[in-house]
Amino acid sequence: MWDVKKIREDFPILSRQVYGRPLVYLDSAATSQKPRRVIDCESRLYCETNANVHRGVHYLSEQATELFEEARERVCRFIGAASREEIVFTAGATSAVNTVAYSYGELAFRPGDNVVVSEMEHHSNIVPWQLVGGRKGVEIRVLPIDDQGELRVDLLPGLLDERTRLVAVTQASNVLGTMPRLEEVIRLAHEAGAVVLVDGCQGIVHGEVDVQRLGCDFYVFSGHKLYAPNGIGVLYGRRELLDRMPPFLGGGDMVKHVSFAGTTYADLPLKFEAGTSNYIGAICLGEAIAYLESIDRAAAMRYEHELLVRATERLSAIDGVRIYGTSPSKCSIVSFNVEGAHAYDVGMILDKLGIAIRTGAHCADPLMTHFGITGTARASFAFYNTPEEADALAAGVERAARMLR
Ligand code: ALA
Repeated sequence: MWDVKKIREDFPILSRQVYGRPLVYLDSAATSQKPRRVIDCESRLYCETNANVHRGVHYLSEQATELFEEARERVCRFIGAASREEIVFTAGATSAVNTVAYSYGELAFRPGDNVVVSEMEHHSNIVPWQLVGGRKGVEIRVLPIDDQGELRVDLLPGLLDERTRLVAVTQASNVLGTMPRLEEVIRLAHEAGAVVLVDGCQGIVHGEVDVQRLGCDFYVFSGHKLYAPNGIGVLYGRRELLDRMPPFLGGGDMVKHVSFAGTTYADLPLKFEAGTSNYIGAICLGEAIAYLESIDRAAAMRYEHELLVRATERLSAIDGVRIYGTSPSKCSIVSFNVEGAHAYDVGMILDKLGIAIRTGAHCADPLMTHFGITGTARASFAFYNTPEEADALAAGVERAARMLR
């Protein structure tokens, strides 16, 4: 049994009202709400332990550094990495992908090479490859989806060849919720001699992650979708690769010694952490993970799936509603449109009912192009949502459909 009432008490914002109605927050795929212990952690750090990390011999700096490195160890265990050197703190998933694109691209890409990305990637797992690919003369190949939103893994062998350097794929589509067969993608890519970057932004929120078992070479995620604050993310990379990759950003903390004759770089992971790190964010990410480890995650995931099934059933029953992404393997994200109505209008009517969803292209233009649409309405469920909220969504959509037709 999942005690959602008790869980909701951990998230202060969920008890607020908007427009005089109880908030129904169904936009956790854009950013999750934060448990009180994460909020308290941030406030406690600023009240008691704030000092720059890796830079001082004084008490506070050493304490902050210790907490920062403990957070790294926690992330390392949480995703099953082999060592702390493989965990690089970044500003978010976008900066993590860009780090790999520029740094691994510098190491490995040559004119005439190619990179494969899936059609359902977020822009942050497309544009960096286009930017670096454009500079390096690297072709971007696209692994398509079918109309159910399933990744056509069967077409991957036809896209891979001896010039494929990297395959970039999401663990869970932020629009469709589809969770592709990653093990197969990784196996095929490796057989072709390519490395694999997995965008785990949505996937890590809805499932256990073990990067070693998965066998991916790079794994990225952002903190703010995982119940942690904004501005912190993680790049996991296999140590052997990170060791060989050149730094991406230059600055303080990523060097051993700087001279005008030549500069030497810090060991991993600091080589990729130029400038003052968001140590407060990293420590709070560690706290968010500690929170997740304190709840029954398996039960939370089963519960999220029940919410997905319920919302899907209720929405499907409404005349004129089309759901995008009907894979049996998906996380708790439902994208839909109401026939004859614009997604923004649906979103605005729901908003006035106190229901927060996301509308638009969701930073996934190629996916919109696939379905011949300009946007969708998207409801995303977390373990703090309730069945009644799924019902309220459906009732709101039904009302919007009546008003807009
Ligand atoms: N990438 C986030 C989303 O899907 C912002 O909403």
